[in-house]
Amino acid sequence: MIYTIVGARPNFMKAAPIHRAFERAGVAHALVHTGQHYDEAMSKVFFGELGMPRPAVDLGVGSGTHAQQTAAVLVGLERFFTDHRPDAVIVVGDVNSTMAATLVTAKMGVFSAHVEAGLRSRDWDMPEEVNRVVTDALADLLLTPSHDADRNLLAEGCAPDTIVCVGNVMIDTLHEHLPRARALDVPERLGVTPGGYAVLTLHRPSNVDDPVTLRHLVGAVARVAERVPVVFPVHPRTRQRAAAAGVELARIAGLVVTDPLGYLEFLSLTSRARLVLTDSGGLQEESTVLGIPCLTLRENTERPITIEQGTNVLVGTDPATIVRAALEALERRPGAAHRVPELWDGRAAERIVGAVLSRLS
Ligand code: UD1
Repeated sequence: MIYTIVGARPNFMKAAPIHRAFERAGVAHALVHTGQHYDEAMSKVFFGELGMPRPAVDLGVGSGTHAQQTAAVLVGLERFFTDHRPDAVIVVGDVNSTMAATLVTAKMGVFSAHVEAGLRSRDWDMPEEVNRVVTDALADLLLTPSHDADRNLLAEGCAPDTIVCVGNVMIDTLHEHLPRARALDVPERLGVTPGGYAVLTLHRPSNVDDPVTLRHLVGAVARVAERVPVVFPVHPRTRQRAAAAGVELARIAGLVVTDPLGYLEFLSLTSRARLVLTDSGGLQEESTVLGIPCLTLRENTERPITIEQGTNVLVGTDPATIVRAALEALERRPGAAHRVPELWDGRAAERIVGAVLSRLS
């Protein structure tokens, strides 16, 4: 049996096409859910929408400090794999579950492949950067989304024959579901006009955990919302931090606050947006493929290809700079021609399965 590990929200869109590609190849494959995310809106909704089977096990690790969460995955997964020895394990992305699962497989002598290998922000304050580097140091097969990631791995001394550029598997999911998402009327239901609103997501600890930074960012968004409605599906971490910092999101004129959305609803929303403001990694990539201008509210990105070839601009976290960049972006004519990086073609899962099976035979 080959297992793919999922834990947190961005893992689900990457695991779904991998599961189906194994099914098409007639190879036994199952999901293991660590339970890092567990809410209906952060986890359960994606299984139904993306057509994923129930996981073979849910380790139920839940929330906690980094050490608690990582340790719970280590213990739970080692126990499960002791009883259900895998032929191979696939990990995706850069969340705590990804890193912990790779450590378990390495210690148990189980073959592992990392999907989304080689991305680097070079920002060691980001928990995901630690997860990326540890995961890539331990995984046997490094499956990259783009050639800049290949170069990062080679520079770190990874053996060339362990690296395969397979493209971006999350874009497989986007291509598959875009027609269904476009058929939904999510902007209308939220009271905004297609093509006439911005979408905001914010959840990085560096942006939301410090009350001063959070207030500055929300202040900048309030200025943008004077010009164009801003729809803000709020991540649970951000909701908690905003409440603790006394930031009343619901009082900001022009800001449309919602709970986190499912995949299809969110894609319906972003695909018709005029502008995206985000600190998410995945949304930088999705907006690049959709051709929607994206302002990334961070000082760095592990996805520079979305800037070189896509629609992404790194604007940082200075409020005046964010407002200026947003107003400039809104001035520009929408629908300008855009490029999509090589191998972001909807067929990455096929290449992932091919690369994994070739190593096992
Ligand atoms: C995690 C990932 C991050 C990813 C993000 C996507 C790590 C280090 N971080 O961050 O890379 O971009 O997921 O969402 O792995 N919570 C709920 N319900 C849930 C899950 C979480 O309410 O289903 C709340 C809990 O209070 C929890 C907090 O959100 O403490 C943070 O969750 P956690 O999994 O620690 O990190 P994220 O910020 O979600």
